[in-house]
Amino acid sequence: MAQKVLVTRPLPGDALERLRREPLDVRLWEGEEPPPRAAFLALLPEMEGLLCLLTERVDEAALAGGGALRVVSTMAVGYDHIDVAACTRRGIPVGNTPGVLTETTADLAFALLLVTARRIVEAAEYVKRGRWHTWSPAVLLGADVHHATLGIVGLGRIGLEVAKRARGFDMKVLYHSRVRRLEAEAALGLTFVASLHDLLGAADFVTLHVPLGPQTRHLIGPAELKAMKPSAVLINSSRGAVVDQQALYEALRTGAIAAAGLDVTDPEPPTAGDPLLALHNVVVLPHIGSASLQTRAKMAAMAVDNLLAGLRGERLPHCVNPEVYR
Ligand code: GLV
Repeated sequence: MAQKVLVTRPLPGDALERLRREPLDVRLWEGEEPPPRAAFLALLPEMEGLLCLLTERVDEAALAGGGALRVVSTMAVGYDHIDVAACTRRGIPVGNTPGVLTETTADLAFALLLVTARRIVEAAEYVKRGRWHTWSPAVLLGADVHHATLGIVGLGRIGLEVAKRARGFDMKVLYHSRVRRLEAEAALGLTFVASLHDLLGAADFVTLHVPLGPQTRHLIGPAELKAMKPSAVLINSSRGAVVDQQALYEALRTGAIAAAGLDVTDPEPPTAGDPLLALHNVVVLPHIGSASLQTRAKMAAMAVDNLLAGLRGERLPHCVNPEVYR
């Protein structure tokens, strides 16, 4: 009998066709919406392979249905939606898509920084709403990006690419990270700041590039927002829950910080009527960090490679829990 595989959404590029050429029984969840939780839980126990997105929670409850699952492959670099320890306990390797989305996501983070600093969204709306009557010296004034101080929280792959972009804007770049990267410091002129609060107090722009986990959930809360300059801008293209969103709302509403640019929220999408969305000093995007045609096709291809390797009992090319092989 052909191995059964669940793919939770149509994939960009030709990855799905490649999967369909394999002697597999591929169940594709069609449409733009993710499978509802109940449907997902009902389908999973039948599957030997799962190719999911960050919208599917692969937790203890999803795995507890038993079944023959041999591999979980997510089309994302972040895997906070997967209980990796629970997969490992069951000997299930988990694959992700690192590397291919690094620069695309860094481009988006930097775009969000520029857009938020220079109030581009407000300015475009100003024109579309017919409010542009004349050139005016004091309308839609924003903050300079060039020569400002950027604070990068998390100097992983994406943080490093953001640092490269910042150099092109003659920014002074500080970073706070678990691991100090001396080579990057020398090559890009970065300054390591051991204390997160010191970095927050010194930066004009703070950009977050940490994975979400127990240590980083609400890493930016009331005290951290208070440590930032009132003129500072917060950019988040990592995971929404890295920021305490209620505290961020208060900080933006009261002017404790100047503005925020978010590609991620908690929850996603924000609940209907979330007052955050009504603030003029926040730009919210629908989690499009990796959303270029080329990158999404590469991510899909990588996710299929991980899935196929897992089904064949081979080591996944990109495995987040290699301890399953011990
Ligand atoms: C997107 O957020 C990803 O983790 O790939």
